[in-house]
Parts: sequence; structure tokens; C-alpha cells
Amino acid sequence: MKHVVSIEDLDNKRIMGILKRAKQLVPVAEGKKKSKALDGKILAACFFEPSTRTRLSFESAMQRLGGTCIGFADPSATSHLKGETLLDAIRMVAGYSDVIVLRHPHEGSAKLASEVSEVPVINGGDGAGQHPTQTLLDLFTIKEEIGKLEGLNVGMLGDLRYGRTVHSLSQALDRFKAKFYFISPKSLRMPTHVTDELQNDWSTHETLDEVLGKLDVLYVTRIQKERFPDIEDYKKVAGAYRINAEILQKAKSKMRILHPLPRVDEISTDVDETKHAAYFRQAFNGVPVRMALLEQLMGKKK
Ligand code: CP
Repeated sequence: MKHVVSIEDLDNKRIMGILKRAKQLVPVAEGKKKSKALDGKILAACFFEPSTRTRLSFESAMQRLGGTCIGFADPSATSHLKGETLLDAIRMVAGYSDVIVLRHPHEGSAKLASEVSEVPVINGGDGAGQHPTQTLLDLFTIKEEIGKLEGLNVGMLGDLRYGRTVHSLSQALDRFKAKFYFISPKSLRMPTHVTDELQNDWSTHETLDEVLGKLDVLYVTRIQKERFPDIEDYKKVAGAYRINAEILQKAKSKMRILHPLPRVDEISTDVDETKHAAYFRQAFNGVPVRMALLEQLMGKKK
């Protein structure tokens, strides 16, 4: 059994194996081919925070592989409301399922859950911590869109402090010799616990304009309103960046924009029709990538 709590739980060999298998599984994810690889297996989706993509793409992935799903999207409809602890709940759910996907507002919650669970725990996002399966689908998308993972110039823009996806992704891309341009308001810079671990070049910026022309990938994030202890601090940075099609005229023609979604106002809808927009394909990629991971964790392949 292997838990997936952090991207550090997956070495490069395992990551590349998942990406390769995900590519083979695209026709199954699209419903064009059938699979029974996870027939009889049950996935429990325990979501203590809102989600559209992570929960639904995991459920789609499981069902496309012949498995079934249980779980909840609203903790107020569970015994959480009566005071049941997370760890008691996880012990129970592990008895009802073969794998647990957990999303929780507290950083470190997935790690704690993995310590009491008798089935693999997949971190579906823990507060401002990590989102490792988002990183897998981000890597898959970059490989598909750009053709390689090695040696890219990667801009990360927006809320780098609270945005968990950029924490996991920068750790992963650092292994592939990325050069990072971190673009954010001063108050939302990439945490030092992430930058201190980077082996390759990185720099911080407050405007996109100064680096846009160098980038192969621009990874945009929403300002995470729900994570600000003081709403007044959120108001100071809300709307700090708004990318539109005109701004992108300065970008390399092959530059691709990724975003974990949901977006609020940081990418204008006129970008959707440009060659740079990869974020809706990226969201679909969550299905084959999560299928490949579930196959690995539950030990059946077809
Ligand atoms: N990318 C992502 O985690 O989206 P959801 O919050 O909708 O799951």
C-alpha cells in the first residue's frame, strides 16, 4: 500500500510511469474504450471542502475503470457535525473502501489520515499544503502541450502563498531542471519552505510584463480568498492580475497557459480562444491521470 500525501511520495520513475499509462488510458477516459481493471473496488471521496474537478474526475476515473464510488461532498451531512474527529471518520471509511481521496481545509490532514488508514489515502488538497494529483495532471498537460518536461522556463502567477498547486508543481518541475519566475504581490510570495528546497534558478517579480516573453509555461492561480485570516488583506490584492488576449501578444507562440481552475477574474474569457489556453484540456487530463494512479494503487492493470 502506498499513500499519496505529497508529490515527494512519488519518484520520477513512478511519475513517468503514471504519465505513460495515462496517455494509454485517454480512450477509456473519453468513453471510447471499456475497462474493468478496478471491477469490485470502491473509492471513498471524503471532501470537507468544495471541489468540482478533483472529486468528479476521481469519480469518473473510478467508474470508467469499472469500480464504484461512495463519499460526501458536504461534511455538514455527516457525523462531522456531531463532533466526530477526522481520524475516527477515516478509520471507519477505510473499512468501507479500497482507497480514500481526502480534501480538507487543514494542512497536514492527509498525512494524519494516512497514519490511521488501512487503505491508501490520496491527498485531494490539504489547506495551503499540497495537491499531488493536480501536479500529476499538470505534468501530463505540460508534456502533451510542450512536448517535454525538461529545462522549461515556467512562470507561476497569482497567489503563490496559499495556492497549494504551485507548491507541489514547483517541487516536481525542479526535478526536471525548470527555471522559475514567481510573479505575485509581495504579500503572496512563494513560501520559503518551498524556495529553500529548489535546486534550480528562480526569481520573484511583481509584474508579468517583465518576464512574459521568456516563458514556455505560464501557470496562473486564483487568489485564494478563503485562506486569508483577514478579509481586508484579501481586498488589497484581489484583482491584482488580469490576463487578456492583448497582453499575450508579447508571449512566445508556443507558450501555454495552465490554471488548476476555478478561475475568478485572473484570465479573461477572450484568452480561451487563443492558442495559449490549455486549461480546459488540463482539466480533462485529470481523468486519465487519476485512472493511471488508481490502477497503480489498487494493483490491477489491463
Ligand atoms: N483544480 C482543483 O482542485 O479544482 P477543484 O477545487 O474544483 O477540485
